[in-house]
Amino acid sequence: MTNIKYSSVPLFLLVAICAISSSFAIAQSQAPQPGPYTSEQDQQNMMGQLGIKALRPGPSGDEKAPNHANYDESKANPYPNLPDPLTMNDGQKVTTSAMWWDKRRPEIVEMFSKYVYGRVPSNVPKVKWTVNTVDHEMLGFTPVIAKDIEGVVDNSSYPTIDVHIHMMLVLPARAKGPAPVLMMFGRAAFPNPNEPSAGDLDKVNKAWQSLLIQQDPSLKQVFEQHPAWQLVKATPFQFPQLNEDGGLPNTWQLVAAGWGFVLFDPASVQADDGGGLTRGIIGLVNKGQPRKPEDWGALRAWAWGAGRGLDYLGIDPAVDAKHVGIEGVSRYGKAALVTMAFDQRFAIVLVGSSGKGGATLLRRNFGEAVESLTGGEYYWMAGNFMKYGASEASFGSMTPADIPVDSNELIALCAPRLTFISYGIPAKGDANWLDHKGSFMAAVDASRVFVLLGAQGLAVEGDYHTAQMPPVNTDLLDGQLAWRQHDGGHTDAPNMKYFIEWADKFIGHTP
Ligand code: GCU
Repeated sequence: MTNIKYSSVPLFLLVAICAISSSFAIAQSQAPQPGPYTSEQDQQNMMGQLGIKALRPGPSGDEKAPNHANYDESKANPYPNLPDPLTMNDGQKVTTSAMWWDKRRPEIVEMFSKYVYGRVPSNVPKVKWTVNTVDHEMLGFTPVIAKDIEGVVDNSSYPTIDVHIHMMLVLPARAKGPAPVLMMFGRAAFPNPNEPSAGDLDKVNKAWQSLLIQQDPSLKQVFEQHPAWQLVKATPFQFPQLNEDGGLPNTWQLVAAGWGFVLFDPASVQADDGGGLTRGIIGLVNKGQPRKPEDWGALRAWAWGAGRGLDYLGIDPAVDAKHVGIEGVSRYGKAALVTMAFDQRFAIVLVGSSGKGGATLLRRNFGEAVESLTGGEYYWMAGNFMKYGASEASFGSMTPADIPVDSNELIALCAPRLTFISYGIPAKGDANWLDHKGSFMAAVDASRVFVLLGAQGLAVEGDYHTAQMPPVNTDLLDGQLAWRQHDGGHTDAPNMKYFIEWADKFIGHTP
């Protein structure tokens, strides 16, 4: 602190000093303070920027709690009419595919960017990819090559923040040509690390023994008494963890069918946490400062990361980069749909149990609410999205009906590419919270865009108000837009074999 003797300073200067230091204090209090920057602080900061004083609280996910979410279908459609993907904002009808591509699609992309998921900044730094380790493994009966790959983001603009994107690419070793690849959001580890041969294990054990004897000479006698005992043993054969439907793990199914896969770690791009918004790729571009209202949220950042992963796949000759899909479940189901909607290089998506912020209609009031997405989950979205949960603000209040777009249009952005929407059943844990019906309605409406573009949507009678959701385990897999609710839980695994067959048919791939 500079030492100023106030008595010797003229009054006008004193006032000026106070004004400067108090505006400095305001700027300081908005900036992340040293020490942990919490989700609550970040949310308050954004509410301040938007002029929001209070948010409507979201419902409880506990169906027995007094403030539980609505599960009464007769109250589920308070705003029954959806924004129309095939009507321009100025009221003109979209009647040709050219009009869709040149006018309407860009209009919808702009609205989703500005109001819902946020914009990817124009100055995101470049990513440099390196293959760190290559391992030859077996997945079931399929030999594979697994590559541990790291993408280092250029942080010369703000060296305090490092972003190292991590993914694992696994390809069938005996593929006849470039393989289609399904990129899956989740932990990126070697699926089945190759072990040393028996002879090499002997060497490892001998080296261990001599090291341990150096450390404690009395161990020599112990090892002599048990000459056949091995410190490091080969892992015994392990039966695979079967899927909920008793099928083989997704990854095994994919490689057996001649597909590759990528395990893509979203957390290596952006933390799943509001306090993390001043770090990760979002924090790097913002130089450690909080977001502005139109900046990207975590979903768009994860999607951006997947797109950079696809850049790498594009230069790997073993990958059929024209047929790369993106997959995720739950919040990563949302991320998968967002990835597909914005990045048209992805050819295929498997959207698992994505709920609100994913395939389900934002306007529906069933299970998870817009107020959940503007509450604790606000950081998945653009800051601007919080306005739709505001009960008291400089602009008054807003409701889900004020959102200029809805998920029927998000699905429509994927058209005419291969889009599979997957759910399980509440009885097995794919909770009502997810609003399966709202996703079905959105897909029914998005079908019109698939048809306009010469593809096929869901083959159902009626429009989104009237179409009947098919019974569980009933395939609606004839079109490029597909729907299947399996009879398992909060996972897309029981749908994997249907997904592979469906995708293979459209891309003309045979194992
Ligand atoms: C919560 C959240 C969902 C989310 C899910 C998950 O249920 O409300 O939006 O999809 O967690 O990702 O596990």
